[in-house]
Amino acid sequence: MGTQLKDRKIILGVTGGIAAYKACILCRLLVKSGAQVFVVMTPSAAKLVGKETFEALSGHPVSIEIFDRTEDISHIALATNADMVIIAPATANTIAKIAAGMADNMLTAVTLAAACPVAVAPAMNTNMYNNPATQENIQTLIRRGIYVISPAEGELACGVSGTGRMKEPEDLFEDICAILSNRLENKTVQGQLENHQGRLPSPVKPLELTQTRLLPKAFGAGYKVVITAGPTVEDLDPVRFISNNSSGKMGYSLAQVAAALGAEVTLISGPVNLEAPKGVRKIDVKSAAQMLSAVEDYIKSADIFIGCAAVADFRAETISPVKIKKSEDADTLTIKLVKNPDIIATVGKLESNRPFTVGFAAETNNLHDFARAKLEKKHLDLIVLNDVSNKAIGFNSDDNEVTVFDKDGQVAHFEKQPKPVIAQYLMELIFKSAKKKNG
Ligand code: C5P
Repeated sequence: MGTQLKDRKIILGVTGGIAAYKACILCRLLVKSGAQVFVVMTPSAAKLVGKETFEALSGHPVSIEIFDRTEDISHIALATNADMVIIAPATANTIAKIAAGMADNMLTAVTLAAACPVAVAPAMNTNMYNNPATQENIQTLIRRGIYVISPAEGELACGVSGTGRMKEPEDLFEDICAILSNRLENKTVQGQLENHQGRLPSPVKPLELTQTRLLPKAFGAGYKVVITAGPTVEDLDPVRFISNNSSGKMGYSLAQVAAALGAEVTLISGPVNLEAPKGVRKIDVKSAAQMLSAVEDYIKSADIFIGCAAVADFRAETISPVKIKKSEDADTLTIKLVKNPDIIATVGKLESNRPFTVGFAAETNNLHDFARAKLEKKHLDLIVLNDVSNKAIGFNSDDNEVTVFDKDGQVAHFEKQPKPVIAQYLMELIFKSAKKKNG
């Protein structure tokens, strides 16, 4: 396992659920990975697993009550020095206390005092988990930027099967690494985004976004977002067309994140091979002309417009109604192309009800100059630049690396990551910028 978490100071909070025994395995995984683990148990957890077990596993004293130790490990010292707090298992009771801001034992006091990322892994009986009180408390935690690592379905200690089973220690370990590496590796992101309570969203595997709690769920609530995605297809004749390699992955990821954050999302998509994200209104189009007309239908009430589609710049002046034939006596074929409407520029120029407008620039050379020129020419609020000369990112790939500009210059750079992760950074930046602009 090596030194993945070398010298990271992690507070492992253990509360009084049966899954407390699994926290021993998590503690061991963290220690093996080089982390310094400080276990803080609630009094009921200490009835399930002896604190000596965690002391042996972590190599540090275990704290339970606030007045346990006064010399070196006060709750403030523990909280201030930590890189992360993970509470696993987190009972309904402790979740409720955290939501209420209570500090009645060492663990709740440390959590309240923590300035680092805090994650909780709920584990409880299904009814307790589904109880509106618990669900509302979980929502409160999410709103405040605490990571909630959703429990899995499975057999529970109470003998029934359902939601409420704590994620396995190995999976929790991965989540912890992801949360910490976001903070460690994405210095650019951290430096440039004034993040929700200084915490970054956790990375997720593509298309698992809605299961992962990132920003507060209501971060985009009240916003109507229109996104274009994918290529456009410009017919030449009944069987041939002009198009490009756009997969739609970036635009679909943006739509998925925006919807998961509570926005009302309309996704206007050219032909792609992707399923519509949950909760998103999807309008299928083929050509640039159809895309423009769909955008015009939905733009009037939109607060944010994101032009992520790779719109074909040209279309055939006339579409042949029959298949164009090879001619015996001509070695060339001339097709007259005419310019397509520039959809995003049309939105950018709107005089009334102009939404906050975000464009994309896929460039191969002179990247920054072209991107900034485009921002100005198309009257955009933000432009997201990606280097399509690099095959590992951009068109049709699963990853992207982007730089974002506004009219004053570069505002962020997000290093190479899967598109759904980039989408989270971008949507956070877009919502924040739109909020700032609209006051
Ligand atoms: O000018 P260029 O095609 O490079 O600009 C890219 C940006 O403009 C993207 O945001 C793209 O979605 C948008 N665009 C558009 N309509 C066009 C061409 C591009 O909305 N006809």
